[in-house]
Amino acid sequence: MALNSRLRQYQVRDLLEEQRRNEHELRQAHEQLADRAKQLQTLVESRTAKLAEANEQLRREMAEREALRRKLLHAQEEERRRIARELHDQMGQNLTALNVGLKSLLGRQSGSGLGSRVQQLQELATQTARDLHRVAVELRPAALDDLGLVKAIRALTETWSTRYGIDVDFEAGQYPRAGISSEIETILYRIIQEALNNVAKHSGATRVAVVLRCSADQVQAIIEDDGRGFDARVPSQSGNGSGRLGLLGIQERLGMVGGNFKVESAPERGATLLIRVPIPKAHEKEKKTN
Ligand SMILES: Nc1ncnc2c1ncn2[C@@H]1O[C@H](COP(=O)(O)OP(=O)(O)OP(=O)(O)O)[C@@H](O)[C@H]1O
Ligand SMILES: [Mg+2]
Repeated sequence: MALNSRLRQYQVRDLLEEQRRNEHELRQAHEQLADRAKQLQTLVESRTAKLAEANEQLRREMAEREALRRKLLHAQEEERRRIARELHDQMGQNLTALNVGLKSLLGRQSGSGLGSRVQQLQELATQTARDLHRVAVELRPAALDDLGLVKAIRALTETWSTRYGIDVDFEAGQYPRAGISSEIETILYRIIQEALNNVAKHSGATRVAVVLRCSADQVQAIIEDDGRGFDARVPSQSGNGSGRLGLLGIQERLGMVGGNFKVESAPERGATLLIRVPIPKAHEKEKKTN
């Protein structure tokens, strides 16, 4: 009996011992698990921080690229303005002087064989002066600075129509000048210039309508031709060396002012380019300056 009871005591002691060991192992396992969870949390936190840092870096780089692109386009406009001024002021003056000289020479040489040669040269000088003026205006339409977008576009459409023999109907409704920055006006002018060049180059159109209109919060420009049209869904080969930069340039310029464009066209059904630029709200500008 005593032996039995001692045996049971031993068994109980062994069981208790085993339970203690198990508890100890369980505690250790818990501790290891907690350690591992802590390590994982630290890892996740460090990865998240790294990701946030990379995101921030990417955002900074994108902002820098955007600023650079803006700067480049401004520099391009500035350079065009300088070249236009140079062409007009310097070379234009020289050509005028050449023309006047030839005219006086023509007066003295009339009758001699030289007369017709001088006349030819004079015609050449006149033509060159005209071309020079056209190039200067294309480079930097003075009207854009002096008279605003509507008159600059009217002049552009008239010259373009005469040059390509395509009728242009230009309508500007109540396009207001106030509230629209010169940056937006330059962008709209360049886009309409490119759209008209595309019509002349690709469309075979006989008529074009250019419409400029404004609502309280946006400017819209529409260039519609009755030419052969194109499938605007087929992505332009821009950027892969094919040299098609027109539509890409339009997109980039619009991107600078939060605008966008779409093409409505189908083969043989003409093409319509719709441009939309938001007008920054005056009170937002005030808020920023306050
Ligand atoms: N009004 C249009 N009518 C018919 N096709 C057009 C018209 N506008 C554009 N396209 C088509 O879209 C293509 C892309 O035009 P985009 O202005 O980007 O390039 P491009 O005029 O060919 O070259 P770039 O403008 O660089 O001199 C043109 O090649 C042409 O096939
Ligand atoms: Mg083009």
